[in-house]
Amino acid sequence: MKPESGNENSRWDLLRNWWSVIGLLIAVLGLFAFLLLFIYDSLARFNNPYVGVMMYFVAFPVVVFGLLVTAIGAVIQHRRNGAAAKPQEPVKLLTINLSHLRDRHVLEILFAVVVVLLGVTAVGSYHSYHFVESAQFCGSVCHVMEPENTAYQHSPHAQVACTECHVGPGVEWFVKAKINGMHQVVAMVRNSYSRPIPPPVKHMRPARETCEQCHWSKKFYGNMEKVYQHYLADEKNTHYAVRLSLKVGGSDPAHGPVGGIHWHMNVANKIEFVATDKEHQVIPWVRLTDAKGVKTEFRAAGYKDTPSPAAIQTMDCMDCHNRPAHNFDAPDTAVDLAMSLGKIDPTLPSIGKHAVALLTKDYASKKEGLEAIAASLTGQYPNEPRIKPAIAAVQEIYSHNFFPDMKANWKAYPDNIGHKNWPGCFRCHDGQHATTDGKRKIKASDCNACHLILAQGTGVELSQLNAAGQPFKHPGGDLDPSTKCNECHSGGVAP
Ligand code: HEC
Ligand code: HEC
Ligand code: HEC
Ligand code: HEC
Ligand code: HEC
Ligand code: HEC
Repeated sequence: MKPESGNENSRWDLLRNWWSVIGLLIAVLGLFAFLLLFIYDSLARFNNPYVGVMMYFVAFPVVVFGLLVTAIGAVIQHRRNGAAAKPQEPVKLLTINLSHLRDRHVLEILFAVVVVLLGVTAVGSYHSYHFVESAQFCGSVCHVMEPENTAYQHSPHAQVACTECHVGPGVEWFVKAKINGMHQVVAMVRNSYSRPIPPPVKHMRPARETCEQCHWSKKFYGNMEKVYQHYLADEKNTHYAVRLSLKVGGSDPAHGPVGGIHWHMNVANKIEFVATDKEHQVIPWVRLTDAKGVKTEFRAAGYKDTPSPAAIQTMDCMDCHNRPAHNFDAPDTAVDLAMSLGKIDPTLPSIGKHAVALLTKDYASKKEGLEAIAASLTGQYPNEPRIKPAIAAVQEIYSHNFFPDMKANWKAYPDNIGHKNWPGCFRCHDGQHATTDGKRKIKASDCNACHLILAQGTGVELSQLNAAGQPFKHPGGDLDPSTKCNECHSGGVAP
C-alpha cells in the first residue's frame, strides 16, 4: 500500500474512506454477479429473457449503486480535506504496513471477507439463475414462453435442446441469438411482447443447418401407415377412422425409388415459392427447378406479379413440418385422441360434441376456462359418475393447448403438414396453380397422389382393407372440389 507521507494527497486518497471502500466492494460484487450470469446465459440452452432482466436490471444497477456510493465517499472526503487546514489523515485501516503484525491480520481478515462475499455472490447468482430457468418459475411467472414450452414437453423433440433448432451450430448464429436475446429483455421489461408471439417463419435458420444435423435428408421412408381416429358429432359418438398409407418416399436414388412426398427435399430438385402473408398460408407463385435444371413457374389464378428476388423462399423441411416441437392440438383432434384412449368415455351421449364445443369457446383466463368446462359438463351430465374423469381429461386438454394470457392456441399457429384444419399441402396442390400458358398444373393434386385410403369407417369396415386405395367416404356428405377442407373443418365442424 501507499507509504504514509504527510501532506501528499493524490486522487486515490479520496477513496480512502469507509463509504468508498464499501461502495467499491458492492460494485465489484455486482460486476462479479453480472459476469457469472453472462457466462451461465451464454452456456444456456436458450435465451431466457429473465436472466437478461437479472443481468441488466439487477446486477448492473448494483454496480452503478456501488460506484455511486464510492463517489459520494470521495466527495465527502474532499470536503473534509477542504475544511481542515491541512489535509486530513486518510482512514487508518487503509494505511497498511506489512511489517506490522496487526496490519497483516487486518489484511487477512479483509481477504477472507472478500472471498466469502464473492462465494456468496457466486452461489446466489447460480441459484437465482437456476430459479429463473426452472419450469416452476416459468410456469408461474414467465408466461411468455409457457405455451411453446408446454407444447415442446409433449412433442417428439422433448429431449432436443431449444438451441438445436433455434440457434444451431456456429458462432455467427450464436451471436445473432444473443443480440435477439437483448430485444427480448427490452420487450419483457416494457411488457411489449406480441401476444401471441408470431411464428418466426422467415427468421428460422435453414433446415439444412438445424434439422439436418440430426435427420438424414436422403433417408428413404417408403410408405408410412397412419390411422386417424375420429368420433362423429352425433349422440352415439360414432367411431370413424381413416387408415392411410402415406407415400412419404424419398429423394435419393441411392436409397430407394425417388418420388412421393419427400421428393421435395432439395436433393435433386428445388422448389421456390412466394407467400403473400406473414404465415405463408397464401402461396400464389411456385417455381420448380428439376434435376436437369429446367425451370417451371406455376401461378395461382389471377396472380400476375413478377416476384422480387428478395421475396422468393426455398422450400425446406419446415415448410411442411413447421410444428415439430410446438404443436397445439385443435379441439376435435385432442378430444378424438382422449376418446380413443378411453380418458373420455365414448359411451357418454354426445360427449364429443359437448367437449369440442367447450374447447372452441374463448375464455378470458385459464382459470375461467377450467371452471367453465367443469361447470358446464357437470350441468349437462347430472348424477353421472363417469363425467368426473371426462371433465379432468377436457381440462387437461385445455391446460396443455390453450394459453389465453399469451393468446396462444392451435388457431394462432397454422400447421402445414396435412390439409384438414389448415390449407397445408393445398396451398400449392389445389389443382389451381398452373403455368402461364395453362398447359401444365402442379401435379399430385388428386386424392390418391399423396396417400391411399386403405380402410375407413367404423367396426368391421376397418378390417376391409383395400391395398389399391378406395375413394374417400366423407362423413360430412359429398365433397365439392372448390371448397377446401379447412373452410368447414376449423377445430371442429361448425354446426
Ligand atoms: C425440433 C426443433 C425445435 C425445438 C427443439 C424447439 N423449437 Fe421452437 N420452433 C421451432 C420451429 C420450426 C418454429 C417455427 C414454427 C412455425 O413457423 O410455425 C418454432 C417457433 C418457436 C417460437 C415462436 C412462436 C411459435 O409458437 O411459433 C417460440 C417462442 C419458440 N419456438 C420457443 C422454443 C423454446 C422455448 C424451445 C425449448 C423449450 C423450443 N422452441 C424448442 C422448432 C423448434
Ligand atoms: C438434435 C437432434 C434433432 C434435431 C436438431 C431435430 N430433430 Fe427431429 N427428431 C429427432 C429425434 C431423436 C426424433 C425421434 C423421436 C422418436 O421417435 O423418439 C425426431 C423426430 C422427428 C420427426 C418425427 C416425429 C414423430 O411424430 O415421430 C419429425 C417429423 C422431425 N423430427 C422433424 C424435425 C424437424 C423439421 C427439425 C428441424 C426444425 C428437427 N426434426 C430437428 C432429433 C432431432
Ligand atoms: C412436402 C412436405 C414435406 C417436406 C418438405 C418434408 N417432409 Fe417429412 N414428411 C412429410 C409428411 C406428409 C410425412 C408423413 C408423416 C405425417 O403425415 O405426419 C413426413 C414424414 C417424415 C418423417 C417420419 C415421421 C414419423 O412419424 O416417423 C420424418 C422424420 C421427416 N418427415 C423428416 C423430414 C425432414 C428432416 C425434412 C427436411 C429434410 C422433411 N421431412 C421434409 C412431409 C414433408
Ligand atoms: C410451395 C408449394 C408446395 C407445397 C406447400 C407442397 N408441395 Fe408438393 N409439390 C410442389 C411442386 C411444385 C411439385 C412438383 C409438381 C410437378 O412436377 O408438376 C410437387 C410435387 C409433389 C409430389 C409428387 C412428387 C413426385 O413423385 O413427382 C407429391 C407426392 C407432393 N408434392 C406432396 C406434397 C405434400 C404431401 C405436401 C404437404 C405436406 C406438399 N406436397 C406441399 C409444391 C408444393
Ligand atoms: C398433396 C398431397 C395430398 C393430396 C393431393 C391429398 N392429401 Fe389427404 N392428406 C395428405 C397428408 C400429408 C395427410 C396427413 C396429414 C397428417 O399427417 O396430419 C392427409 C390426410 C388426409 C386424411 C386424414 C385426415 C384425418 O384427420 O382423418 C384424409 C381423410 C384425406 N387426407 C383425404 C384426402 C382427400 C379426400 C383428398 C382429395 C380431395 C386428399 N386427401 C388429397 C396429403 C394429401
Ligand atoms: C362443406 C363442409 C365440409 C368440407 C368442405 C369438408 N368437410 Fe369433412 N366434414 C364435414 C362435416 C359436417 C362432417 C361431420 C362432422 C361430424 O359429424 O363430426 C365432416 C367429417 C369429416 C371427417 C370425420 C370426422 C371429423 O370430424 O374429423 C373427416 C376425416 C373429414 N370430414 C375430412 C375432410 C377432408 C379431408 C376434407 C377435404 C378434402 C373435408 N372433410 C371437407 C364438413 C366438411
